[in-house]
Amino acid sequence: MNYTLNSKSLADIKADCLVVSVPEKGDWPASTAAADAALNGMIKDLQKNGDISGKAGSTLLLPLAGQPWARLLLVGSGSESPQGTASYRKLLNAVFGRLKDGPSKHALIALADNDVKDQDEAWKLSLIARIAEEQQYRFTGFKSTKAPQPTLARITLAASANNKTLKAAVSAGEAIGHGMSLTRDLGNTPPNVCHPTWLAEHAKSLSKEFDVIKTEILDEKQMKKLGMNSLLSVSAGSEQPARLIVMEYRGGKAKEKPHVLVGKGITFDSGGISLKPGEGMDEMKYDMCGAASVFGAMRALAEIKPAMNVIGIVAAAENMPSGTATRPGDIVTSMSGQTIEILNTDAEGRLVLCDALTYAGKYDPETVVDVATLTGAVIVALGKEANGLFSNNDELAQRLLQSGNRACDRAWQLPIWDEYQSQLDSNFADMQNIGGRPAGSITAACFLSRFTKDYRWAHLDIAGTAWVSGKDKGATGRPVPLLVDYLLSHVQ
Ligand code: BES
Ligand code: MN
Ligand code: ZN
Repeated sequence: MNYTLNSKSLADIKADCLVVSVPEKGDWPASTAAADAALNGMIKDLQKNGDISGKAGSTLLLPLAGQPWARLLLVGSGSESPQGTASYRKLLNAVFGRLKDGPSKHALIALADNDVKDQDEAWKLSLIARIAEEQQYRFTGFKSTKAPQPTLARITLAASANNKTLKAAVSAGEAIGHGMSLTRDLGNTPPNVCHPTWLAEHAKSLSKEFDVIKTEILDEKQMKKLGMNSLLSVSAGSEQPARLIVMEYRGGKAKEKPHVLVGKGITFDSGGISLKPGEGMDEMKYDMCGAASVFGAMRALAEIKPAMNVIGIVAAAENMPSGTATRPGDIVTSMSGQTIEILNTDAEGRLVLCDALTYAGKYDPETVVDVATLTGAVIVALGKEANGLFSNNDELAQRLLQSGNRACDRAWQLPIWDEYQSQLDSNFADMQNIGGRPAGSITAACFLSRFTKDYRWAHLDIAGTAWVSGKDKGATGRPVPLLVDYLLSHVQ
C-alpha cells in the first residue's frame, strides 16, 4: 500500500473515495463538516433521513458526481464523546473492510481529526495505516486458483501537517501491519510445511531482506552441547529436528544492553505421548504463534530502525508421539542444571522455553519478554480478548500493560506468587512440569520464573489471542502491536 499525508483542504485532493465519519449525536469533526459543505449539506440530509445512523462501525457508500471524489464512504463513530479507542478501532476496521474489495483504488481518509480519548494525531494516523494493512491481509497461497489482488492500492491521509513526526507515525503503523502479516502467514502455514527447519530458513531470509538483522541457527547437536535437554526432550519423538533461532537487531550502541524476545515455536503440538483429543487438533499448528510474533516484531523493527538493540530467540520444535518420544515419568536436566520430571508431555511449551530463557541470559539483557501459546487455562481465565501477563518486575509489567492499551492489543496481569510454586513440587526431581488443574496458567508461569531469576522478565500467554477459530479461522498477528509499542517506548 502506498501512503501519503496531505494537509490541503479536502476539496483540493482528488480521490476515488473520500472517507469521513459521522457521530450518532454531537459535534462533527472538521473534515466531516468540510465535506458536507462541499456537498451542499448532503451528509446532514442523509443523517436526518435515517440513511446513516452514526452507530460505531456502520457504513454507507455512495457514488458522487461532479466532485473531486468519485465516491463518499460515511462511517459511524458512535455516541461517546470523545470517542474511545475501541470504537475508533472498530470504525477503522469497518472502513477498510468496506474498501478492500473495491472498486476504489485510491482512498482519501479524513479520520485523523476525530476526537479520540487521550490520543493525538500521530497515534490516529499510525492506527489507520496499521488497520489498512490488517484488512488487506489474505492467505491464499494454498488455493489452486489465484485470488484477485486487493483493489485498494493508494491511501491519502488528511492531516494537519505533512511533517517528520506524522510521517514517522504512518510508517510505524505500516511496519507494524507488515509485521502482523508476517506473523499471520507463519501461523497459518500448515504444519507439514511450517516445521522448525522451515522457520529457521525464514529467519535467514529475513536477514537477507534486512541488513540490520543477523541470524544464527543452532541445531540439535549444538543444543545438546549446551545442555538443552529439556528443549530436546520435546523434539525427541519427531522426525523433524528442533532448532534454536536467534535473530539480532542491532540499532543501538554496541555496549547498550539488548531487550530480548523469546518465542514458543511448537510447529505442531499433538501432545506427544500424552496425546491430545482429536477434535480441533489442527489448530495446534498455531502453537508456534509466539515464535511468529517474535518474527513479526523483528520485521517491524527492521523497517522502523529504532536506536536500540533487540534479540529475538525462537525455540522451534515439533511435539509428536513415537517410539523415541519422551515418556510421562522421564526426568531431564535443563540447561540451567535444574532437573524436571515430565509428568505430561503435553506441557511441552515450558520445556522448550526454559532452556531458551536460560540461553537468553548470556546476552546480559535489559529485559526479557517471552511470548507463548502456553496454556488452555488462560482462555478460560481471559477469553480471546486479553493477553495473559506475568512478570517478576512490576515496573516492567506496568510498561507492558500500557503498551497493550496504546496498541489496542491489551494484556491483563495475573499473579506468580510464591504460594503457587509448591504445586510444582516433584517427589523425584527438582520440579515437575505440571501443577494440576487449579491456576494452570499461573503454575506454567511459575515454572518459567524458576529460569529467569537473573533478569527482569515478563511472560505473555497468548493462547487466547493469537488466532481465532470457527468460520474465520486464522492467525491474528497479536501481540505484535504490543511488543513493538513496548520496544519503541524505550527510545521515545
Ligand atoms: N499449546 C498448548 C496450550 C493450548 C491449548 C493453547 C489449547 C491453545 C489452545 C500447550 O502446550 C498445552 O497443551 N498445555 C496444556 C498444559 C497441561 C497439560 C498442564 C493445557 O493447557 O491443557
Ligand atoms: Mn501441549
Ligand atoms: Zn503447546
